Amino acid sequence: MDGNGRWAKRRHLPRVLGHQRGVEAVRRTVRAGVELGLSALTLYAFSTENWRRPEDEVSALMGLLKRFIMADLEEFASNNIRLKIIGDISAFAPDIIELIEQARARTADNTGMVMAIALNYGSQDEIARAARAAAAKGEITPETISAELDTADLPPLDLIIRTSGEVRLSNFLMWQAAYAEMLFLDVLWPDFGREHLEEAMAEYARRERRFGGR
Ligand code: IPE
Ligand code: MG
Repeated sequence: MDGNGRWAKRRHLPRVLGHQRGVEAVRRTVRAGVELGLSALTLYAFSTENWRRPEDEVSALMGLLKRFIMADLEEFASNNIRLKIIGDISAFAPDIIELIEQARARTADNTGMVMAIALNYGSQDEIARAARAAAAKGEITPETISAELDTADLPPLDLIIRTSGEVRLSNFLMWQAAYAEMLFLDVLWPDFGREHLEEAMAEYARRERRFGGR
């Protein structure tokens, strides 16, 4: 989800307003994902590198995360959404951790779309943690590492969409992306909505996936 800052800058608005509108785009996209029948939707909300941003922006993002979960939890629950977190949230403030744990518990038995939110997430950190866990149990192989990744219980990754015109992964699902399709859109995240998700799914359907075969 990239481009909140540029969206705000173009309008001569404070960055945090871009993030606020970004939350609206998350709501639209989650609703659309449920309606379009996605089994899982993973949102890259806060990376291991985002701590480098100014403190006021970091705390604004944390505040938005809190408000999003509090305001939308009932909607997730009634839409059969299961909340999952990838990343290491132990670095977050206790009140946020508690809120996340409550939301996770409240939606744990839901069987519909998994909404995975990447928080304090970075692929390199995830792979290092998974490799340590795999080593502690025995052999290190692609399979034993995969089984320890934060995404172990998610379906295989089909499609990565990055908004804002940047063409890089930025430490997102790098292991899982081995054979994923990728789509880089020139849309700024606050402008993203159902029509973009539908178009992305149509583009995905046009791709031919061979997984190294022929
Ligand atoms: C959102 O967009 C990314 C988050 C950390 C949620 P940015 O804040 O990276 O926006 P740009 O890249 O400055 O436009
Ligand atoms: Mg950015």
